[in-house]
Amino acid sequence: MRLEDEIKRRRTFAIISHPDAGKTTLTEKFLLFGGAIQTAGAVKSNKIRKTATSDFMEIEKQRGISVATSVMGFEYKGIKVNILDTPGHKDFAEDTYRTLTAVDCVILVVDCVKGVEEQTEKLMEVCRMRNTPVIIFVNKMDREGKDPFDLLDELEEKLNIHVRPLSWPISMGSTFQGVYNLHNKSLNLFEESKTSISENNIHIENVFDNTIEKLLHERYVKQLREDVELIEGVYHTLDKAEYLAGNIAPVFFGSAINNFGVKELLETFLEIAPYPGTRHTAEREVASTEEAFSGFVFKIHANLDPNHRDRIVFLRICSGKFMRNTFYYHTRLGKKMRFASPSMFMANDKNLVEEAFPGDVIGLYDSGSFKIGDTLSEGELLHYKGIPSFSPEIFREVVNRDLFKSKQLDKGIRQLTEEGVAQLFVQQPGNRKIIGTVGELQFDVIQFRLEHEYGAKCDFTPLYFHKACWVTSDDKKKLAEFEQRKASVIAYDKEENPVFFAESEWGLKMAQQYFTDIVFHFTSEFKTGKRKH
Ligand code: G4P
Repeated sequence: MRLEDEIKRRRTFAIISHPDAGKTTLTEKFLLFGGAIQTAGAVKSNKIRKTATSDFMEIEKQRGISVATSVMGFEYKGIKVNILDTPGHKDFAEDTYRTLTAVDCVILVVDCVKGVEEQTEKLMEVCRMRNTPVIIFVNKMDREGKDPFDLLDELEEKLNIHVRPLSWPISMGSTFQGVYNLHNKSLNLFEESKTSISENNIHIENVFDNTIEKLLHERYVKQLREDVELIEGVYHTLDKAEYLAGNIAPVFFGSAINNFGVKELLETFLEIAPYPGTRHTAEREVASTEEAFSGFVFKIHANLDPNHRDRIVFLRICSGKFMRNTFYYHTRLGKKMRFASPSMFMANDKNLVEEAFPGDVIGLYDSGSFKIGDTLSEGELLHYKGIPSFSPEIFREVVNRDLFKSKQLDKGIRQLTEEGVAQLFVQQPGNRKIIGTVGELQFDVIQFRLEHEYGAKCDFTPLYFHKACWVTSDDKKKLAEFEQRKASVIAYDKEENPVFFAESEWGLKMAQQYFTDIVFHFTSEFKTGKRKH
């Protein structure tokens, strides 16, 4: 098959949601349709239960499971589907954000009872930053949820995006009848079924077709006809270009657990979702169809077993064809490398791959050469853009508990932060090491891994900062002046960029108002244009 045909038949995406909205359930149903698994329940939930926030075994389990389900690939009607898994727990939000840089589109799951929740908003913000096309699946229609029109308003308002329903629920909760597919004008009647994947699809001309009266009670027919008239009057027909530009999100309704509305979501999604396209690097735009291979690392998974210290590096292919045992160029290290056993993931299986194409994610074994954001190419110096670090919110100073192991501690902290577990900032004088994370759990992970993988022991002293943000200025003198005046709350990241630690929201506001020549950045995205090698 030609490179272009391989690209056109690929869909690489993530399913995202606030925990408990139904992401795992929906993923599992997709895998059932794809024949990648045979029974419901085969994919283990990758979430850390809320009750076990600092339970180590849970973190361990999570880490073990997350490799197996990092990428779930399967074939569906000639399309190669790659679903990238994202951790549900909010302490791992940064992992999720990074995974979102490796996908071409997302499906956002919303619980119809709860509507838009905290994580839904945050995840959507990240999608909006990158103009990622989004389809929304309103789940749990078998429960008494919010009125669907109110839900659409809520989605538009809180997620800052236009919406366009492509399916419409007929009642809900205990009287849920089914959904009407506005996209291909078919009626899908609800049958409660947690195991079967069949759907009762009836094609009709439109809602005024008489067949509908034989299938539904008069009351529901009347309501559906009114609703559809209202929808067609209020919402424009879906403009695919607007969806692909990330300006409008098509909305589907259904019930993942009952496998209801899932197939139509999957099929419409595969029809309209983008195939791997052009991506930005600091140097130039790279089209997926270019012959030369290139890709970037968005996730690193370390093996916790001290006898097997190798790591799995997840690489998203952006252009050309990747081939096993071929030399490629590691642009940051300026070094050629080849890979004897790259692997691809098919649901719970891992296979050796000979070749892979744009949109595919491969796992490479590594003994410490890679950092998140590294690029591989055929020789051209490229740096893929858009692998941001987010400004952390929880800060602790590292205190060494075993002075004979300072070297191990330094190495461990450096490697863990390269993996993206947390961010490291160094403050002078005294080389104080400050670790910043977005969640409490990361500190448990760091402490555990430092001890078990590097033989180093440390404690953490809490630091009460509100936020850390990168600071830049066009005026070098003004920046130096700012660094001097704020020296007690300035530290430097691994690339020596100055970072300002605001003690309170008010303090941050004051600094922003007073130092007008200084720009305060809340993600590291600003760095990509002028990255140091
Ligand atoms: P998540 O990955 O987004 O965190 O959510 P997950 O799929 O694990 O679903 C969260 C809970 O919601 C699960 O129940 C799941 O069974 C339920 N659920 C998913 N889809 C639907 C639906 O369409 N209707 C209804 N009524 N419930 C749904 P749980 O009790 O937390 O877990 P479990 O014991 O069933 O696994």
